Amino acid sequence: MSNIRPNSFKAKLKKVLLVKTALVLFAWTFGIASFVQPSPTAAAEMATGAVRARVDNMQSMARAHENLGDMLRGKMEYNKNVAKAYADALQITNRFIVKWFENKDMTPPSEAKADIWSNWDDFEKLSALSYAQTQDLYKLVRADGEKSEILGQYLEVTESCSNCHQKYRKSGPGVQPPVALRHGTQ
Ligand code: HEC
Repeated sequence: MSNIRPNSFKAKLKKVLLVKTALVLFAWTFGIASFVQPSPTAAAEMATGAVRARVDNMQSMARAHENLGDMLRGKMEYNKNVAKAYADALQITNRFIVKWFENKDMTPPSEAKADIWSNWDDFEKLSALSYAQTQDLYKLVRADGEKSEILGQYLEVTESCSNCHQKYRKSGPGVQPPVALRHGTQ
């Protein structure tokens, strides 16, 4: 990369962006947007109404979670400001989990278990615990804490996601930290 002058790099980037825009416009015109846009899971594609909103929100939360995990295990360069943005997105979204379930909707492909509504207090409790963990994570990242400390708190968050999935999502825990993190190699 060092032999690329900043100007030619910029020009290249511009070209790539133009091509990308053209592709998106083309795809959009012909109704094949899913070819070029990040493809949501099949569940999100098929879901409608309350389930759709719920699954979309869970997925955006999962993306922030995953990106932060990639940074913590060195798959992506750690940048404090970007990490802060992910941690913030994670806590803001997490805060509203209970809202997404106020509507008792289990229309397929929803994976929500009926127990959510018969154990509502417990579900609320797990949600509040998860939110508290994401708040702590955000505070640590914002304070530029030790990477190992941030990582530890990140794993607490992950566990709080899994604790709820284990009980209330048909396919189980689902959210796993990246393998490298699970084995504590970072
Ligand atoms: C209080 C419970 C609870 C907590 C906490 C929770 N989830 Fe979920 N999550 C669910 C339930 C229930 C579903 C299934 C919803 C449905 O299909 O209608 C789900 C679904 C998902 C999905 C699947 C969406 C899809 O494509 O079908 C992802 C991804 C996800 N959660 C990520 C996370 C992450 C990441 C966290 C933690 C940062 C988290 N969740 C915390 C209850 C929870």
